[in-house]
Amino acid sequence: MKSMVAYNGREIPKEDKVFAACAKAQDAVSKFGPDEVINATVGALYDDEGQLIVLKSVDKVMKDLAPADYAAYAPIAGTPGFRKAILKAAFGSYEPKSYICAVGTPGGTASIRNAIANYSCPGDKILTHNWHWAPYKTIAAEMYRGIECFEMFDEEGCFNTADFDYKVKKLIRNQEHLVIILNTPANNPTGYSLSMDDWYAVKKTLDEVPLEKKAALVLDTAYIDFAGDPDEVRQFFAVIDNLRSNILPIIAYSASKTFTLYGARCAAMICLAHSPEVAEEFGMVNTFSSRACWSNPPRAPQEVIERIYADEHLLAEVEAERAEARSMLLARGKAFEEEAAKCGLKTLPFRAGFFVMVPCDDPDRLCDKLGEKNAFLIPFGKGVRVSVAAASEEKCRRLPAMIKAAMEELQR
Ligand SMILES: Cc1ncc(COP(=O)(O)O)c(C=O)c1O
Repeated sequence: MKSMVAYNGREIPKEDKVFAACAKAQDAVSKFGPDEVINATVGALYDDEGQLIVLKSVDKVMKDLAPADYAAYAPIAGTPGFRKAILKAAFGSYEPKSYICAVGTPGGTASIRNAIANYSCPGDKILTHNWHWAPYKTIAAEMYRGIECFEMFDEEGCFNTADFDYKVKKLIRNQEHLVIILNTPANNPTGYSLSMDDWYAVKKTLDEVPLEKKAALVLDTAYIDFAGDPDEVRQFFAVIDNLRSNILPIIAYSASKTFTLYGARCAAMICLAHSPEVAEEFGMVNTFSSRACWSNPPRAPQEVIERIYADEHLLAEVEAERAEARSMLLARGKAFEEEAAKCGLKTLPFRAGFFVMVPCDDPDRLCDKLGEKNAFLIPFGKGVRVSVAAASEEKCRRLPAMIKAAMEELQR
């Protein structure tokens, strides 16, 4: 007997490429020391000394929790205080006009999972951009759905609204339901953020979805609080706040990056519904799904976020600390871009965030070649992903020329 598993059509790789690359980088750090190694693999924010950044203000609240604050079960949909506080975090100064419902989930991953489970059918295709976070496919496959991609960029490097429109119309002809996932602002892996014009084009396409069909627009905003000015990066909410009744916007708002609570597993899925019935139904079905998958989401991070929003001084402290980390990150991205331009290294359109993407033909070989020089990146589709979140500004400045040289070496 070689296998006991019911694979059910899923393709399960033997090794996760991201974790394999991280392991190689860590191995090099232990052999050669942190100064000799550029580890641009990890999707978390590290300081210039290579230490994970945890907001001190958040850490303080976490350490203040009483045993019952973390040990007791939270309600399946999240604690009432958290469900209110997370709306303030997600919308910032924007005041939504739609009917809102928030359901707490253990991470943005879980929000995306529930959205797919409840707004598409087995056998359906989920639509997303070709440059996307790989787990979308894993989550869809686990629930017997597939992924269809539209080209994210056209020949001019602009958001490809024509292909988005084409793919939405193609899929909606054959499916009763359509889940569309857009990861913006500060997309993983490209760092692209949809402009307001991109958003108007997305809205135009959604306005043309026939009323007898239903679409859920899942906005994966995992990086929104590191994408730029907090008000500016939220301007697009106005566009999705008044869509037609057959389109349901769902925000997958994660606390992982925003509060540096990656491992604490906390997020909320938030709908902007056209009617109170649809909002209430959203709460009901997603709570049902949560019960079936993980039951209660962790209480500790919910308690922390509730306390932050109950105390304006504490909130100001968290926001100031985050702003500092965001400036550091934006400076690293800028440094990488400047040096890439100087040495003629092509990148995909980048605006902000944790990652920059360098397109190339053979990402595995390029990563291996760079690994020989103690620079570690992730092979990602038809390119290599550089985590500027994980490397110092000085290392972000050095990387483009190293990548360019490695590419040329491989072409020889
Ligand atoms: C694009 C994107 N979406 C969602 C997530 C989900 O994060 P979490 O489940 O930790 O909230 C991540 C995390 O890396 C991500 O990169």
